[in-house]
Amino acid sequence: MKRSFVMHDHPLFRRDFLGHTGLAALAAAGLTKRTVSAAPASEKTWKPTSDRRIRFGIVGYGTCRFGAAFGFQDHPNVEVVAVSDLIPERCEGLMKACRCGKSYPSLERLVKDPAIEAVFVATDAPSHARHCMEVLKHDKHVMCAVPATYGSIEEGEQLLETVRRTGLKYMMAETSCFRADCYAMRKIYQAGGFGRVIYSEGEYYHYASRPIPSFKNWRVGSVPLWYPTHSTAYYVGVTGKRFTAVSCVGFNAGFPEYKPGANRYNNPFTDEVALFQTSEGGSSRMLMCKGIYGRVVETGRVFGQRGWMEGMQYHGQLDPQFRQVLA
Ligand SMILES: NC(=O)c1ccc[n+]([C@@H]2O[C@H](COP(=O)([O-])OP(=O)(O)OC[C@H]3O[C@@H](n4cnc5c(N)ncnc54)[C@H](O)[C@@H]3O)[C@@H](O)[C@H]2O)c1
Repeated sequence: MKRSFVMHDHPLFRRDFLGHTGLAALAAAGLTKRTVSAAPASEKTWKPTSDRRIRFGIVGYGTCRFGAAFGFQDHPNVEVVAVSDLIPERCEGLMKACRCGKSYPSLERLVKDPAIEAVFVATDAPSHARHCMEVLKHDKHVMCAVPATYGSIEEGEQLLETVRRTGLKYMMAETSCFRADCYAMRKIYQAGGFGRVIYSEGEYYHYASRPIPSFKNWRVGSVPLWYPTHSTAYYVGVTGKRFTAVSCVGFNAGFPEYKPGANRYNNPFTDEVALFQTSEGGSSRMLMCKGIYGRVVETGRVFGQRGWMEGMQYHGQLDPQFRQVLA
């Protein structure tokens, strides 16, 4: 039997899903109507499962002030032991944002602090892999702002090898995975609501006729799909599976930073579109475009053998297993 659900109003699938519960209402409503916009369920207060406070270090308070963006400083199970940014004013800003009294002049100094168990790396993208390996080598878990590596397969392999050798936790903090639609897609995939995903699409449009400021100008002329994860989350973040082959085309919107010799990457493309083969024998079309006038959005869709989803609307075959997961 085919059903359609609209999920945008449901607490679990809103961005602030952590404070809410009550999927039973959605599942129950979905059993009786073809298209359902679920009513918000009752508020439920968050209950800690432990008193343990993980001792964190946070590094990087650049253009996006990303070190403080995940709210570790407000989490009851986290103690921000120390922070760092190479630029003293930014370091002070991060101390203030995290209400933290201790700082180090660099990540390389911070990782030597034996009181720290885990580090959030929010530094410039080209340094991520190197910085994460430095953290792991100092026997600390690491969470990293995206992307994991920046245009270097070799660094990716080194990072993987370091994670395996140390046995420590590594997390790439892809924010699209916690967008309401992507999160809902993951839950539905895990419940079997898509079956095998045959095709998926992911899009990161970020119109920028002039580059966003960045540490040592790493964003000037940057290669669009060296920053793929907001798009690829709509396959990898949904299924946990992998890409096995790719071909890609690029375009040029005519911005000055992408003219020959105008950037360190020798990159002429403002926009790139990739077609991937997936490890389950399907395909994915993923893009990153900076040149489409005025468009700034991260989105995607998933198409499987048992259903498909765009935005918060699921169309597909429901079975008892699926309903139990939502309950
Ligand atoms: N939605 C998302 O997931 C999202 C959004 C915005 C930014 N980001 C990512 O967050 C990261 C930070 O973005 P940004 O725009 O703030 O970067 P940025 O380039 O403006 O700033 C990077 C900061 O890192 C600091 N830094 C570099 N090396 C250091 C070291 N060894 N020790 C201490 N500090 C060091 C620099 O001084 C600088 O202040 C980037 O990788 C970006 O890709 C992700």
